[in-house]
Formats: sequence, structure tokens, C-alpha cells
Amino acid sequence: MKIYELKKVFTPAKPARVTFVDRDEFNDDIVTALELPGNQLIVYGHTGSGKSTLVENLLHRVYEKQITTNCMKGMTFEEVVIDAFDELEEFYIEEITNNIKTSINGRTQANYLAIKAQIQASIESGQAHKQKRYLPPQLTPQRLAKLLGEAGYCWVLEDFHKIEGEEKEKLAQMMKVFVNLSDKHEDLKIIAIGAVNSAREVVETDAEMNTRISEFHVKLMDDEEIRQIIEKGCEALNIIIPKNLQDDIIYYSNGLGSICHKLCYYMCDTALIKRTVPQSVEFDYSDLKEALKRYIKSVEDTIKKSFDRAMTIPSVENTLRIMAHQDQYGAQSDSLLAWASEHSIKISKKKLKVDLDKLETEEYGELIKFDDNSWKYSFSNPFYGTFALAYFEEQDKNIRSANKKSNREMMQLLNEAFKVFSNQIASE
Ligand SMILES: Nc1ncnc2c1ncn2[C@@H]1O[C@H](COP(=O)(O)OP(=O)(O)OP(=O)(O)O)[C@@H](O)[C@H]1O
Ligand SMILES: [Mg+2]
Repeated sequence: MKIYELKKVFTPAKPARVTFVDRDEFNDDIVTALELPGNQLIVYGHTGSGKSTLVENLLHRVYEKQITTNCMKGMTFEEVVIDAFDELEEFYIEEITNNIKTSINGRTQANYLAIKAQIQASIESGQAHKQKRYLPPQLTPQRLAKLLGEAGYCWVLEDFHKIEGEEKEKLAQMMKVFVNLSDKHEDLKIIAIGAVNSAREVVETDAEMNTRISEFHVKLMDDEEIRQIIEKGCEALNIIIPKNLQDDIIYYSNGLGSICHKLCYYMCDTALIKRTVPQSVEFDYSDLKEALKRYIKSVEDTIKKSFDRAMTIPSVENTLRIMAHQDQYGAQSDSLLAWASEHSIKISKKKLKVDLDKLETEEYGELIKFDDNSWKYSFSNPFYGTFALAYFEEQDKNIRSANKKSNREMMQLLNEAFKVFSNQIASE
């Protein structure tokens, strides 16, 4: 029997490997797009839908080597370019080649070294500020494309939507350069991973790009895919999670693999299962309850902060109240309005839309997500919904009048609600 470490099996914060579930809808198409010379990829979808995991697991079927740039808020275009350049050191200096590319072009290598020397010199002469690295004029997008293409490395640009404003435009321009150069450099390939709708920002402006970029919209995992995570994990660790517990975990996960991984991880960890067990162990509801408690504790602060941000939207309570009473899959805006009028909650169509749009953004806590397949709004994490419900129950008990509440009172209520919420689970 192969022994697996628990942390390698259930990976709430990392791309899954052992429990990787094939996403039948995309697998073959993504692999084909990767294999197609000159074709670039944009993979987008909601947070936690499994974009990084999918790319990581499929990429090595085609490319042996890749470099990854993790874009961060406030990062400049120059920093993105330099990051990719630095990563290529592995190829041009350490001379780590792969099976596809076994030789290094001497001229290109000399080129790489010359640019590197220039960056180095600027650091030594104090020209380059610590944070802002100096981009030598030679390191143009064309040059970077050539360096990447000749190395046969694929470039994964994670979270490209985090680059903002002017810098983003430069990034879009660079993708265009790459698309154009990919005729010459067959292996040149960028995989840009971004948030929902981010693909449009790159492609829509340019019709010519459309034919050379494949876009993939990765949707949240469906219930069967989540079940497969559990089943694969059980097999690897030699444990049994009965069907009814699986159903509960699927329910709480609501399409988010990370919740499933975390609950399963906590269940094992609480039972002191750290790796594959020699004799199979069966879990029951009390184990899941413990895991849920630990889960709530681990997300409590994040949830509170998100609600705190959401509450800065003027008179947002009604919108949240309406959302809190929908089931976990949410509802379309017309159904939300119908529900509100049935329950004598006054809200205009416009106000609801404005609130929901804001609640989707990071600035206001990202409480809500919009599914562009079903056109439904729902809480971005099902626990947010439960929490909101607990919050309003408590509020209705304590404050009957519609007086404006101060921020402090608000927080007190949230705390109370949290206790109620935690107790509910504990007594289930
Ligand atoms: N196909 C899969 N099989 C098994 N687990 C998966 C799969 N896809 C995603 N997961 C799990 O779900 C969680 C989220 O996945 P991932 O980080 O890939 O999502 P993402 O779309 O890249 O999210 P973000 O936008 O936040 O970067 C991780 O814990 C990962 O292990
Ligand atoms: Mg990711």
C-alpha cells in the first residue's frame, strides 16, 4: 500500500495532486489548446473554481518546464517582465533544459547574460530603487518573448487581473506582441489565469487576437466532482467517509473545492490521522461536527471583516437580508425582488442591483458572487449565508425599531450572531 501524507492528500490552500479530479468539460480542450503551436490561453473563473489546479495538472502533460509569475496588486508591468526574466535564469544560466529543448542557442544565451549584467550594474550603481527594479531598454516584450520561446518554457501568469490601470493596458499590449511572435517561436506560450470577466479586457479590443487565443471559463465544481475529491482522498488515506457524511460535506462546500479539502483535512487531523492508515477507519457525524467547528473558527475573522466592509455600503441591510433567506444556490434578481415584495421588504430594482454589484467587489468584502451561467446571485461562500441569517435573527430580536445602528453596536451584533451560529452547529 502506498503511504500518503495527509497534507498532500487534502490541500485546501494548494492545487490538488493526489485528489485531482479531471474536469471532463475542459480537460481535453485545454490540452489541445496547449499543444497547438502559437496558441495562447486565458483561463478565467471565480475564486476557488479550480483554475490553478487545472492548469498545474494539465500543463505537465504537454510542457515539461514552466515559469510562473504571481501578479500582485500594485505590481507594475516592468516588474512582471523582470520576474519572468529572472525565472529564465534556470534555463540560460543553470542550463536546466528539458526533453523538448535540449540545446541552448548561444546567441540568445549571450543576449540573456548581457541584459542580466545590465540589471546587475544598475543595482550596484544604486540606479535601481529597491522596490522598483530597473528595466533595461533591451528587455522589450519582443526580447522576452524570444527568450521564452527559445527556452521552450511556458509562462503562467497567475492572477493577471490584479494588475491595474495603465499597467494592465501594457500587459494586454504585450500579449498581443506574444500572439504575433508565436508564428516565429512555436513553443511560445502564455497561460494567463484571471478572475471572472477578466478575459474580455485582453481579447475584446482586438479581433485578430480572437483566433489565436483560447479562452476557458472554469466553473465552480459540481457536486459529483466534489464527491470525487472525497473518494480519492479516502482511497489514498484508507479511510471511510460514509455517503451521508459525503453529502453533508458536498452541501457545505457548495462548489468550492477548498472547503471540501479543509473539512476532510480537519476530520482526519482531529482523529489524529496524519498519513495513510494500515487499518481502515470509518468516520461518523461527530467527526464532521468537530471539523465544522474548527472550520468556523478558522474563517471567523475573515467573515467578520468581510461583513464589516459590506456594512459600509449605505442601507445595505435589506439586500443582505434578502440574500440571507435564499438557499445556498442563490437566485436571479427577479426572484430576489419577488421574494422581497412577498415579505414586505422595500427595495428598488436599481438599489438591489447597485448593492449586489458592490458586494461582489473586494472593497466591500466579496460577500456575493454572480454566476454567469445560471444568472444567480449567491453568497461567495455558503458559510457567509448562514452567518448572515444568524445575524438578522439576532438583530430582529434585539432591535425592533429601524434606528440607525452605530458601528460598534453593529460589531456587537455580529459577535452575538457568531455565537448563535456556532451554537447552532454544536447542538445539531
Ligand atoms: N480538479 C480538482 N480536483 C481536486 N481538487 C481541486 C480541483 N480543483 C480545485 N481543487 C481544490 O480547490 C481549491 C481551489 O482550487 P484553485 O486554487 O485551483 O482555485 P483557483 O480558481 O485557482 O482560485 P483563485 O482564483 O483563488 O486562485 C484548492 O484547495 C484545490 O486543491
Ligand atoms: Mg489560483
